[in-house]
Amino acid sequence: MKAGDPKSIDPNLIDPKTVPSFTLSSGEKVPCIGMGTFGSDRYAPSEVAAAVAGAIRFGYRLFDCASVYGNESLIGGVFDGALKSGAVERKDLFIISKVWNDMHGRGGVLLSLAKTLKDLALEYVDLYLVHWPFPNYHAPGCDGDARNPDSVPFSAGDYMAVWAQMEKIADAKLARYIGMSNMTVGKLKAVLPHCRIRPAFIEMEQHPSFQQQELFDYCAGEGIQVIGYCPLGSPNRPERDKSPDDVIDMELPEIAAIAASRGIHPAQACLKWAVKRGSIPIPFSVHGKNYQGNLLAVTGDLLSDAEMEAMKKAERNCRLVKGQVFLWPGAKGWEDLWD
Ligand SMILES: NC(=O)c1ccc[n+]([C@@H]2O[C@H](COP(=O)([O-])OP(=O)(O)OC[C@H]3O[C@@H](n4cnc5c(N)ncnc54)[C@H](OP(=O)(O)O)[C@@H]3O)[C@@H](O)[C@H]2O)c1
Repeated sequence: MKAGDPKSIDPNLIDPKTVPSFTLSSGEKVPCIGMGTFGSDRYAPSEVAAAVAGAIRFGYRLFDCASVYGNESLIGGVFDGALKSGAVERKDLFIISKVWNDMHGRGGVLLSLAKTLKDLALEYVDLYLVHWPFPNYHAPGCDGDARNPDSVPFSAGDYMAVWAQMEKIADAKLARYIGMSNMTVGKLKAVLPHCRIRPAFIEMEQHPSFQQQELFDYCAGEGIQVIGYCPLGSPNRPERDKSPDDVIDMELPEIAAIAASRGIHPAQACLKWAVKRGSIPIPFSVHGKNYQGNLLAVTGDLLSDAEMEAMKKAERNCRLVKGQVFLWPGAKGWEDLWD
């Protein structure tokens, strides 16, 4: 089935052309929502890949991948099948991947991207991100108390050495856009003036109880498109990312009230809020009912101005992905990672 051909669209599927888009500084349009692919140490790569296949069929076109998620080779099989069968054309997909912390060294970015391209069965990615602004490695699946004695604090100089490698892969057209993830306003101010190619996207944690308004506004002011991760408050995140004081977004009264008045699931209220705000949420689910409902939520009407105002009160400054496993010797606590 060719995407967008009205005669070939199953009435139970979403025509990707009806999914709203955001316009980048380059003038290109990108879908206003995507699907996350981090299995949170719970879902096998095959389950995540099956969800990606179902999501492409249903109408998703943007996918957030990463080498560290350990499932790119199986997801690549799905992309390859969808492209070869003609279910979707390459130009209509927007595929994101990320370089992991252990590949920041000289030549590491290109090596990492080469492996990702092989695994994803692609000739280029649409967006390549620096996953974290630290070269600090921890073993996948480690617990929250794990620390690596070689870990170091952020250094703008070291980061720019990584960014220069990112610029080279953009020059080589192996990534159509390059971007950053897990940044702060302070870190962006330190590096943006030195970028030959500016980041087109910043991926950041963003959900109603952690709106990051200052960082969001800063990116908007710089013409950088925001991608919001954990858009539903990541209820099934790995145990190492859970602390007793964490808020459960989908149970917040501000969200429950909007969901009840509209007769929708709280997840859908979170996504209608994110897209109305101007960010691209990348919710994850392996369950068809959930990922379909998530795409449907943003193809219908979004929140009203009054509902958007009410959602401001859901802010609890509740960062979920604190990153404590990346702390360096001498750091006081996870807050040090965020300036
Ligand atoms: N750049 C970074 O450092 C970074 C960090 C974290 C995450 N990410 C990206 O962001 C993506 C999303 O983050 P996340 O998976 O942690 O959090 P999330 O999308 O906020 O939450 C995902 C969870 O919500 C549940 N869910 C999804 N849709 C639902 C619905 N309609 N109704 C009820 N429950 C629903 C899912 O449960 P079920 O599986 O039961 O449906 C899933 O476990 C990741 O997959 C990854 O691609 C990036």
